[in-house]
Amino acid sequence: MNRVYIKTYGCQMNERDSEAVAAMLRGKGYSIVDNEQEADVVLLNTCSVRDQAEQKAIGKAGHLAKRKRKDPNFIIGVMGCMAQNRGSELLDRLPDLDLIIGTQKFHRVPDHLSNLIATMQGQGPRPHSIVDLEEEADSQNTIKSHTSDTLQVTAFVSIMQGCNMKCSYCIVPKTRGAERARPMGEIITEIKELAANGTREVTLLGQIVNQYGIREFPFVDQKSPFVQLLEKVHEIEGIDRIRFTSPHPVGFKDDLIECYGRLPKLVEYLHFPMQSGSNRILKAMRRPYSIEKFREIIGKLRTVRPDMYISTDIIVGFPGETEADFELTRRHFEEIGFDMAYLFKYSVRPDTTAEPLGDPVTKEQKEERNQILLDILAKQSLARNETLIGTVEHVLFEGPAKKGDNMFLGRTPGNRVVLVKASRRLIGQIVPVRFNRATASTLFGELVLEGVEAEPKQSVSTTV
Ligand code: SAH
Ligand code: SF4
Ligand code: F3S
Repeated sequence: MNRVYIKTYGCQMNERDSEAVAAMLRGKGYSIVDNEQEADVVLLNTCSVRDQAEQKAIGKAGHLAKRKRKDPNFIIGVMGCMAQNRGSELLDRLPDLDLIIGTQKFHRVPDHLSNLIATMQGQGPRPHSIVDLEEEADSQNTIKSHTSDTLQVTAFVSIMQGCNMKCSYCIVPKTRGAERARPMGEIITEIKELAANGTREVTLLGQIVNQYGIREFPFVDQKSPFVQLLEKVHEIEGIDRIRFTSPHPVGFKDDLIECYGRLPKLVEYLHFPMQSGSNRILKAMRRPYSIEKFREIIGKLRTVRPDMYISTDIIVGFPGETEADFELTRRHFEEIGFDMAYLFKYSVRPDTTAEPLGDPVTKEQKEERNQILLDILAKQSLARNETLIGTVEHVLFEGPAKKGDNMFLGRTPGNRVVLVKASRRLIGQIVPVRFNRATASTLFGELVLEGVEAEPKQSVSTTV
């Protein structure tokens, strides 16, 4: 009864939460397996941001329930945002679920699981499903450092929980609760431990990451708590690259922009969600900025770091989005020249302020608008990658590629995916690579041997 498989849907925060649950379970003697067939317990860490994300997890749980009917000791749990959003109503649809655990209760998973197993082994009637969705004061402080038995070259670090914004389309404030910051000291301790275990890159996570600690901690020398945190992370030896996601134009002030000029470990890559290029739609979305303000921030960033790579999130088909509104999105999307983007078709979410607006933009219109942006993105991304052919950049190798003998995957500081023929010992190393071929999504290249050009922007930690 001790083999657990965790399947994660949704965002990086969910990935980080799944890692934390895995670490806690390992600590209690469970083994974490990488496929559901081998597992005695399957935990689905779910997402509610769009209906499709929920349907995927519900479909999976339904499929697992068939196995449970043959094997009553098999345990199925649903955790995370959909558990929080739908709660015990999930049991009406999926009566075989054993565990439903909300977003502030991840740390309770090991206890709930062992109680469940103990009851099952006690020959009695089938134990009741456990539903634990309460809010928990200070649950942000239950996020602790977690060491893993495999090398994590790049690691997610949640620096806060929840969200206080009220974007009209978004379910996250409901599923994740109010914004709460973790203490700075604990975050630093966690990152130092990661560095000691070989982690070279961290991604700081928060729903509005640049608002970190804005209510809890003071500004110092006109620097926001987030900038203070970045400075502290920057001092940690062994960490060579710092990323964060997702920032919001609100609070993206000069103190943060300046960091790009003075903190070399802060990569020249920013994920900066725009959502729409139409001020009218931004207002209806309750995004408190104009497209002009959004572009002004990007302009300032590019002055400080001209080589900046920028990605974004866009929602097409928000209720009331006309052809003219979409044309504004298209134009700004093209003019800004995003290097990467996540494009979403609007999905009505329960209990959001946009819910009463319904879903008037047709599926076909959404599909068409989505495709127009995808085509622009493919062109822009390819053009950017092609400018890199013949140049050399420092690539952090993360692991073997999915396909190809001796092919390994790494990333440039600008977050471009690189595939290179290499050897295992490069995993976790930052080495110069010369690019010789590019597609829209990937750069191909070869290792640059010692002594050959390459002006390192970062310290090169090994030679090959
Ligand atoms: N906190 C982040 C976003 C987290 S959700 C931010 O504000 O930038 C990730 C993305 O999902 C959002 O940026 C948005 O583009 C998309 N999204 C959220 N709700 C959605 C909905 N109801 N329909 C379609 N896309 C949605
Ligand atoms: Fe959702 Fe808006 Fe909060 Fe992002 S900032 S999580 S889009 S409510
Ligand atoms: Fe989804 Fe929850 Fe993340 S709704 S996007 S998993 S915060």
